[in-house]
Amino acid sequence: MKTIIVFYSLEGNTAFAANEIAAAIGGTTLRLRPKKAYPDSGFRKFFWGGKSAVMAETPALEPYFFDSEQYDRVIIGFPVWAGNVTPPIRTFLRENDLTGKRVAAFACESGAGAEKAFGKLKEALGRDELEAELILIDPKTRPQPGNMEKIREFCAKLKD
Ligand SMILES: Cc1cc2nc3c(=O)[nH]c(=O)nc-3n(C[C@H](O)[C@H](O)[C@H](O)COP(=O)(O)O)c2cc1C
Repeated sequence: MKTIIVFYSLEGNTAFAANEIAAAIGGTTLRLRPKKAYPDSGFRKFFWGGKSAVMAETPALEPYFFDSEQYDRVIIGFPVWAGNVTPPIRTFLRENDLTGKRVAAFACESGAGAEKAFGKLKEALGRDELEAELILIDPKTRPQPGNMEKIREFCAKLKD
């Protein structure tokens, strides 16, 4: 079962989680980067990122290589923005048909909204269920003792 972790991360928390998951399951990672980077500080960060998420934008991405034939499973990782999926993930889903693949997802948040964001992700994927779901609170900037256990439990659900 070949797995790829496709993720977006503005401030490193989702990237941190993606690397932990990749290490645990032996998968590869693909980090999506929008051509026009989102602001990463101050009011502009929340304003532009939040607006883009609420409007369900699909920003152009820097070139990336993804050959869907190579993978049986795609794990999608994103920071929750305004209770929504982060826009670069929407772009990826628009550009790549994941029909027939197993899909799991993890979300990083600072407080609340991940459940709602998973709902939006399922809508974008056109599926009712994901193979596994994981929610972490700022795992890099606010590490908590239970995080590694949560990651292990998530990975254990990804059975071949
Ligand atoms: C534009 C924007 C909107 C956000 N909206 C939410 C939110 O609705 N709920 C929440 O709990 N955290 C929210 N956050 C916080 C991030 O989801 C959280 O800090 C996450 O761990 C950041 O991941 P990253 O470091 O990979 O970018 C938001 C952050 C940004 C920049």
